[in-house]
Amino acid sequence: MDLNIFDRMESEVRGYIRSFPVIFSKAQGSTLFDQTGREYIDFFAGAGTLNYGHNNPKLKEKLIEYINSDGVVHGLDMATEAKKHFMETFERVLLKPRGMNYKLQFTGPTGTNAVEAALKLARLVKGRENVVSFTHGFHGVSGGSLATTANSKFRDAAGVGLDNTTFIPYCGYMGDNIDTIEYFERLLEDPSSGLDQPAAVIVETVQGEGGVNVATKRWLLSLEKLCRKYDMLLIVDDIQVGCGRTGSFFSFDKYGISPDIVTLSKSLSGYGLPMSLVLMKPELDIWAPGSHSGTFRGNNLAFVTAAEALDTYWTNDQFEQ
Ligand SMILES: Cc1ncc(COP(=O)(O)O)c(C=O)c1O
Repeated sequence: MDLNIFDRMESEVRGYIRSFPVIFSKAQGSTLFDQTGREYIDFFAGAGTLNYGHNNPKLKEKLIEYINSDGVVHGLDMATEAKKHFMETFERVLLKPRGMNYKLQFTGPTGTNAVEAALKLARLVKGRENVVSFTHGFHGVSGGSLATTANSKFRDAAGVGLDNTTFIPYCGYMGDNIDTIEYFERLLEDPSSGLDQPAAVIVETVQGEGGVNVATKRWLLSLEKLCRKYDMLLIVDDIQVGCGRTGSFFSFDKYGISPDIVTLSKSLSGYGLPMSLVLMKPELDIWAPGSHSGTFRGNNLAFVTAAEALDTYWTNDQFEQ
């Protein structure tokens, strides 16, 4: 296969092509096909973006129907029928049955932009700069989110200081016998620990990019308790392990925690179409109109497939099982 143009024209920053040096042309379900028609089982699944498979036929049907009807594709953050339908579906299928009360912020369509919004909002609400993130955490590669991403490969590329984040050892980081929440609490209660009072804690319940590290229920419950005790907002970054990746729609469904802010993206649209969302408890919604903006916050094609994915896979427990 001739990869010459990729070598010649595409920036050295390209990554996954180096692990998969073929030219893909088609995809269906869990199978990718290269130019020669050779089949590959796609365990990578778009790094958590294709939980319902490539070109899912049910979602495709809705998408084609919408495009053929000249439905609005680009809508900034204006009201559209597709967005209305998505919000109604999100409320009916996910929030109401769980007794959850969140407001929805549509951010730019990348995960990192949802994280930026979540961090900004937490700092705005608490009037503090510092945020706690965890060893091996991954939350994106733009300025604010990169500061909360642990891996030096990404951090070293920033070119500026990545401030206002303190890293705490994740669940199990020091071995099974050391409770890292105890360590965190010791820092919080000691005014001479050097830890600036955090506005928030951002955490993945299962770390994805950081090496598939699974936090225990006990650790997450202790973390939530600590957040309440020390007035820190709890942000769960469910961008990679939400949308059914761990079974339930929210990765924390079975843990009994109630995050103040949740970020979603990746498999949210269900079709690999870019879309991101921040869920926030209503009392935290102190944004001024337009203060976190973005041209592509209204990817209506993604709203169409996202709503259909919720209706198809989350109105009974078959998919989850
Ligand atoms: C937990 C988590 N947060 C944020 C991101 C960033 O998402 P994006 O790559 O769409 O900016 C990722 C991407 O892998 C992620 O796994």
